[in-house]
Amino acid sequence: MSDIDSLEQTILAAIDAAGDEAALEAVRVGALGKKGSISELLKSLGGMSPDERKVMGPAINGLRDRMGEALLGRRRVLKDAALAARLAAETADISLPLWPSPANAGRIHPISQVTDELTAIFADMGFSVAEGPDVESDFYNFTALNFPEGHPAREMHDTFFFEPKADGKRQLLRTHTSPVQVRTMLGEKPPIRIIAPGRTYRCDSDQTHTPMFHQVEGLVIDKSSTIGTLKWVLEEFCKAFFEVPNVEMRFRPSFFPFTEPSMEVDIRCDRSGPEIKFGEGDDWLEILGCGMVHPNVLRNCGLDPDEYQGFAFGMGIDRIAMLKYGMPDLRAFFDADVRWLKHYGFRPLDLPTLFGGLSV
Ligand code: PHE
Repeated sequence: MSDIDSLEQTILAAIDAAGDEAALEAVRVGALGKKGSISELLKSLGGMSPDERKVMGPAINGLRDRMGEALLGRRRVLKDAALAARLAAETADISLPLWPSPANAGRIHPISQVTDELTAIFADMGFSVAEGPDVESDFYNFTALNFPEGHPAREMHDTFFFEPKADGKRQLLRTHTSPVQVRTMLGEKPPIRIIAPGRTYRCDSDQTHTPMFHQVEGLVIDKSSTIGTLKWVLEEFCKAFFEVPNVEMRFRPSFFPFTEPSMEVDIRCDRSGPEIKFGEGDDWLEILGCGMVHPNVLRNCGLDPDEYQGFAFGMGIDRIAMLKYGMPDLRAFFDADVRWLKHYGFRPLDLPTLFGGLSV
């Protein structure tokens, strides 16, 4: 066997023996690298006679080409094997059951869901969300809203008062979200378009009343809004919220010290079947109070009633939640009973949007 043949056998054996790409690279450097065995042979061509070179030249070049190909072939095999090993080691067993995620197990309380729903609807009509504190002063809850001192309307609110302070003044738990009207008018310049959802408190408890409940206030102040605008806003809201093409609303004259004229709004519904239906039937359900903002309230908030006008409304969130989702007892809302929440609650990722559908 010639030297070239035996070198070829040696290199081929080394290529075969290389167990990974690093070992194979070492073989390549040993043969074809700068000082590799084949490279040295190639260099030796220079010192040969022309006749010798004629024979040895093609022989050594042929060896170099064959070894190059053998290295390439082996590299491919090793690469494939490495990939196959990784794939085998890293497969996920898709037959394993999913871990239930905590986000899937938890539920959104109907009050939170309904608040998100109505916020989406009013946001679409250009309203922003305003807030105020639960603990209020007499000024924001009553006086600025045109409840005169000693007026019987104050008594109607069944207010929770705190102990009097040193100056004799008593803080209270707000009895409605209307104080947010005052805070907004004092803090912002018209045009104003806000809703204010939040907790409210009255000393009252039965199947449809709890000492803590939720209201959403609406307030629009500009130079041109009328009762017509108010009716339109409320109608659009009811259609979107109850997800029906038509609602019939009845505006009844009423009294609130902070609006003039004042109205209470009922919606037509059918309660004869197991489920309440809106826009048909012979029943009426009261859902909110509203009216044009009283000039005294505008004045108390530093606005000129000859320049500005607007409307306000106040709606019970718990009430419209009960209506929409058929929950009969308001007290259960606040019992923190997980079985109730599992039944009536909403999935965390089902965010209400107008385009995605509010309650699906
Ligand atoms: N604040 C009133 C209530 O709690 C509701 C209301 C708000 C009425 C705004 C008129 C305007 O009964």
